Amino acid sequence: MAETHVLEKNLPHLVTALPGPNAKKLVEADDKVISPSYTRDYPLVAKRGRGAMIEDVDGNTFLDFAAGIAVVATGHCHPEVVAAIQKQAAELIHMSGTDFYYPSLVELAQRLAAIAPGKSPKRVYFGNSGAEAIEAAIKLAKYHTKRDKLIAFHGAFHGRTMGALSLTASRAVQRKGFGTLLSGVFHTPYPDTYRGTYGVRPDHASADCLSYLQNELFRRRVDPEEVAGIFIEPIQGEGGYLPAPPEFLQGLRKICTEHGIMMVADEVQSGMGRTGKWWAIDYAGVEPDIICTAKGIASGMPLSAMIARADVMDWTRGAHASTFGGNPVCIAASLATLDLLESKYIANAKRMGEYIMKRTADWSQRHKIVGEVRGRGLMIGIEFVRDQKTKEKAPDLRNRIVEEAFLKGLLVLGSGDTTLRLCPPLLIDEAQADFALKTLEGIISEIERVL
Ligand SMILES: Cc1ncc(COP(=O)(O)O)c(C=O)c1O
Repeated sequence: MAETHVLEKNLPHLVTALPGPNAKKLVEADDKVISPSYTRDYPLVAKRGRGAMIEDVDGNTFLDFAAGIAVVATGHCHPEVVAAIQKQAAELIHMSGTDFYYPSLVELAQRLAAIAPGKSPKRVYFGNSGAEAIEAAIKLAKYHTKRDKLIAFHGAFHGRTMGALSLTASRAVQRKGFGTLLSGVFHTPYPDTYRGTYGVRPDHASADCLSYLQNELFRRRVDPEEVAGIFIEPIQGEGGYLPAPPEFLQGLRKICTEHGIMMVADEVQSGMGRTGKWWAIDYAGVEPDIICTAKGIASGMPLSAMIARADVMDWTRGAHASTFGGNPVCIAASLATLDLLESKYIANAKRMGEYIMKRTADWSQRHKIVGEVRGRGLMIGIEFVRDQKTKEKAPDLRNRIVEEAFLKGLLVLGSGDTTLRLCPPLLIDEAQADFALKTLEGIISEIERVL
């Protein structure tokens, strides 16, 4: 345990220049053998984690405000999650819920059904990744409605498998070279309350986007009676940590109901308590027909769920399944995660989110390159601009801040073109938030000094 002692200090401590010698060697080896499609922004080579801390292969410790892309909800290696995994691994590692029964599969489904938005009875399908949950939702929406067309939003990220990728409209590089995707997919503008949709009236973003959907898309390109599902991230994740206003989600719900379209909430990133409620869509009081979740669901074990109204999940035996989906070890981790979220970490996400928002409330007044700080709970985006009036994007400055934060022991990630996201484990405390904000503010001030 002496080795993990250094992580228990809860704040970063750097003992080598970065990357250290062991990290350098590993990055070189990785470069030769790992798929070059991966997107690494800086050379963190992780060895072990505890709470919100990561230790690298050279003994440096970092404060992790990226959480493995918003995954480790209860922190790295929470003792209760580790114990649940160890116990389950010694008992039963795999059985395949597709072909056989086991109690924990039912238990987790019951718990997810109970926390899913709205009062209608639910059924649950388990997968292994966010993209798999989205694939399942695409298939179920088509199956249930007997319709073919799908709608998603500009800036959306729903995953990289061919079906999910057809809905994704985040970066051209994610689609380039992969040929024809699913046919019958349409994209429509997402309400951007900072820039306005295409630069028009930020305060009118919800109305403009609902109007575009009804008056442009439905009139000119696709009849709503042919649409199986509309997929929406209640807070766009990869698109820049952009929350859809409640009135937009409520308007979308109405449109879906009117036309018999499945409203599919992609809460792969925003779900499982990250926003201070179980689901980001809870802030709008809306019940989607289908909800997809993954990332935070099992504190880092690969698991996803597609939860649908029971009357919607009407596909027949054999229509869809997965060998590994709902693996017993992942489920054990998830049940322990749910206990921890319920008993303390969702409340902590809300409290610490408010703390960070309060501390950054005047950043856009004090810093000319900060356009806006926005978010809910511990899903917070800092938008960087070259000019606050024109709101010109500043991706180079954002990237520099991400890299320099790493050099100071703080792990953060970008999101969208020009946003830096804060998505730490939900257990962070004030001292850790203070360190992160002080570090970022120091870097921002330094950049502004020489601009
Ligand atoms: C909103 C959203 N949907 C789907 C996905 C895809 O999840 P995965 O990478 O687990 O396939 C992601 C991943 O970032 C996401 O943020």
